[in-house]
Amino acid sequence: MNNNFKWLVFSVLFGGVIISCQNNTESRKVEAVSSEQLANEINKSLPASSTEKEHPGKAVYNKYCLTCHQADGSGVPDMHPPLGPGSWVGKEPQELIAIMMKGLSGQIEVNGKIYKNFMPSHAQLTDDEIADVLSYIRTSFGNNFDPVTTEIVRKIRSGR
Ligand code: HEC
Repeated sequence: MNNNFKWLVFSVLFGGVIISCQNNTESRKVEAVSSEQLANEINKSLPASSTEKEHPGKAVYNKYCLTCHQADGSGVPDMHPPLGPGSWVGKEPQELIAIMMKGLSGQIEVNGKIYKNFMPSHAQLTDDEIADVLSYIRTSFGNNFDPVTTEIVRKIRSGR
């Protein structure tokens, strides 16, 4: 065997080892990316609420209450009362449902401040929407009260 031939055999073998090592890391990388992509695909196919864990009452709040009570429930000084701790949000569900049905007017006091404004009725909302939005405000803005069920909204609305 001449030297050139030995060198050729050596480089073919050694080269093969390097290539197979590279192939190994390469395939591991491909595998890692594809399982991540798979997870993304699974998430995408689920409904938005289950991935973002957004309360169903938030959409109702944003549509019907946010303009007055603000996104963080802080209200507007001298106009719209806040909905955070110390507000009426912790009262009995019956009272909150009554406010949704009839609205609220006349002088009220929230956290030591007087409000003399007018809140319109929200009786046009469905029982589910009212239960959702009240449950949302009772568990948001620093509040931690029991949610309100659709069942109790239905009872109060029908007067039974
Ligand atoms: C047009 C403005 C407006 C909208 C819209 C509105 N509110 Fe009010 N809300 C008020 C005002 C003003 C009062 C106080 C009424 C008064 O002075 O007698 C009030 C009072 C309240 C109260 C009792 C007082 C307190 O701060 O704890 C709650 C609870 C409440 N609103 C919840 C809601 C929810 C939930 C919605 C959406 C479904 C909503 N409001 C929509 C203006 C509004």
